[in-house]
Formats: sequence, C-alpha cells, structure tokens
Amino acid sequence: MVIRILSREDVRRALPMRQAIEVMKGAFAQLSTGQAEVPLRLSLPVEQHNGVTLFMPAYLSADDRVAVKIVSVFQDNPAKGLPLIHALVVVVDAETGAPAAVMDGTYLTALRTGAASGAATDLLARQDACTVAVFGAGAQGRTQLEAVCAVRPIQEAWVYDVSPERAATYAEDMGERLSLPVRVADAPAEAVRGADVICTATTSSRPVFADADVRPGTHINAVGAYTPQMQEVPTETVLRARVVIDHRKASLAEAGDLLIPMQQGRMGKDHIHAELGEIAAGLKPGRVSPEEVTLFKSVGVAVQDVAAAGAVMEAARRMGLGTEVAL
Ligand SMILES: NC(=O)c1ccc[n+]([C@@H]2O[C@H](COP(=O)([O-])OP(=O)(O)OC[C@H]3O[C@@H](n4cnc5c(N)ncnc54)[C@H](O)[C@@H]3O)[C@@H](O)[C@H]2O)c1
Repeated sequence: MVIRILSREDVRRALPMRQAIEVMKGAFAQLSTGQAEVPLRLSLPVEQHNGVTLFMPAYLSADDRVAVKIVSVFQDNPAKGLPLIHALVVVVDAETGAPAAVMDGTYLTALRTGAASGAATDLLARQDACTVAVFGAGAQGRTQLEAVCAVRPIQEAWVYDVSPERAATYAEDMGERLSLPVRVADAPAEAVRGADVICTATTSSRPVFADADVRPGTHINAVGAYTPQMQEVPTETVLRARVVIDHRKASLAEAGDLLIPMQQGRMGKDHIHAELGEIAAGLKPGRVSPEEVTLFKSVGVAVQDVAAAGAVMEAARRMGLGTEVAL
C-alpha cells in the first residue's frame, strides 16, 4: 500500500485561494442537498493541558471522497510561541477504503476557513464592497483577508487585535503579500466604521465590536467563537442581520453567537435564513437589498476539510507534489 505525504507547502501550492473558494461552494452545496455524510465532530477534552482535540470525518458522495481531520485547539500554545491550532488530515480512498494520503491540516484549516468566508462574501456581500475590517491578527485572520480580497475589489483593510504587536506584524505581512494598504486600528470602532466587510477571527468570548458602529449594507464573516458560551458578534447585530450558517446541526450545538441570543429569548431558530450551501445550490436567495446587514456564522464542518483535501490530492498527483511512502 502506497500513501502520499503532503507538507504545508505542498498544500499551499496545490490549492490556491480562488480555487479553494469554489471548492467550498461545492462542499457546502453537497452538505445542504443531502450529498454528505457528516457526523457531529467528536470532541476530546484534554483539560490537564487546557486543550481539546477534535476528530472530524465526512464522506462527500458527489465528490466521492472520504477523509478525517484530527485538529487540536490548545489555549496555552500561543503563550509558548506555538500555533493555537495543529491539525492533520488523513484521506481514505472512497472506492476501497485504503488510506491514500496524509497531509498538513494546520494550513489546510486556515485555507478552508478563509475560503468558506470567501464563498460567503461572494454570495452575500455587496458587489462594490471595497473596505475590510479584520478582528484577530492570527492564522485565521490572515486567510480571511486573503479570501475577501479574492472575491471583491478591496482597496483598504483595517486590523484590530488586543495585542497591538500582533496587529502591527499582520499589517506589515498582509500589506506586502496582498499589495494593499493594511492599517492598524487603535480601537474596534476605528476598524468597523468604514468597513463594507467585517471578519471576526479571534479567541474572544465577548463581542469584539459595538453594534452601533456597523453600517447598513455590511457583510460579516464570524468564524472565531465555536462553543455555546463564546460570542464575537453583538446580539443586536445578529438580530438585525440576515443570518446564514455553515451547518444547521453544528451551529445549533456550538455557535454561541446564535445560541446566546436564543437563550436570552431574543430570537428563535427561524431567524436563521439559510445554510450557505442552500444559497450556493441556488435553493435560497442571498442578499436582497444593498442596505441589509448579512452575517455568515461558521463553526467549521468536516465537509470543508474533505473537499479541500480531495482537491489538494488531485492537484498533487497532477503536479507530482509530496512524497510517496510504501506502508
Ligand atoms: N469557523 C471555523 O471553521 C474555524 C476554523 C479554525 C479556527 N477557528 C477559530 O478561530 C479563532 C482564531 O483562530 P486562530 O488560529 O487565528 O488563533 P490565533 O491565536 O492565531 O489568533 C487569534 C487572535 O485573536 C486575538 N484576539 C483575542 N481576543 C480579541 C479581541 N477581543 N479583539 C481582537 N482580537 C482578539 C488574539 O490576540 C490573537 O492574535 C479560534 O477561536 C479558533 O478556534 C474557527
């Protein structure tokens, strides 16, 4: 049995952001049209080390792909100079069940999380959106900006992070990488007031900006909060937004941004307009007016990893990337 091993750099070369965004639209469409087997992810708490390891398998029947991601979120890592998230993806041949590849999942996670927001921005933001505010200058914050820039004519970006040093490094790196003015905001309001698109990719448990600063017509991608207790988006913003989610079952189990307003009795499940895949598949409309606020809330779904890993595998075979190992 031969498997292909792919590094972070192989993943990056195999699947550029623009392509990853189209792959995500396909993955979400399969998820929302009964063409995906996706059990709720298994969460293994590692309390002694302030971490959690998640096991995320899925089968996409239209793509005919099986994979599982093992992803760890260890809260003490950033203080040790390590990434908050480490991940690995194992691809299984859908026809035989034989292991086919092992690849970096850390960059793949950032890529597919950015690409999901890119797909949501493409389907929900105003066509003329040209300014972005990013909250959280970490790994996800980087691919959020890259993805939004891939689908809209962005001319200026703002970044806000509770660590001004991280924000400054982000502004320098991303400005150079995307040939874009990226400015550091001293306060959340400075970033949000002029923004057409807002991305929240923080580890915060409390809302990261004030509702009063959000202009009509703004599109928001909220990817950070992933437990029922965590909230990045103010309740008032959720209440006035057209809300789109990645996966109904997962959101109703994990998305504090939606569960907290529900627990407060301020909205019901019917406030959720659609899954992103229903819009990607043409079953439901996206934005209906230039003035409305749209919100894409994502907690992350295994179909994203499986679709991205499948596309990486295919390109890697074609491009001769990675190392083949006989087991
Ligand atoms: N939705 C998904 O599919 C998905 C996928 C991967 C990660 N995530 C989540 O996204 C979040 C960010 O992940 P990451 O890998 O980029 O982490 P990271 O540690 O690299 O970056 C997070 C950044 O947020 C900053 N921050 C914390 N509170 C803030 C606040 N109130 N305002 C502004 N900045 C603040 C931190 O200083 C840090 O720079 C995590 O909660 C992670 O679990 C979601």
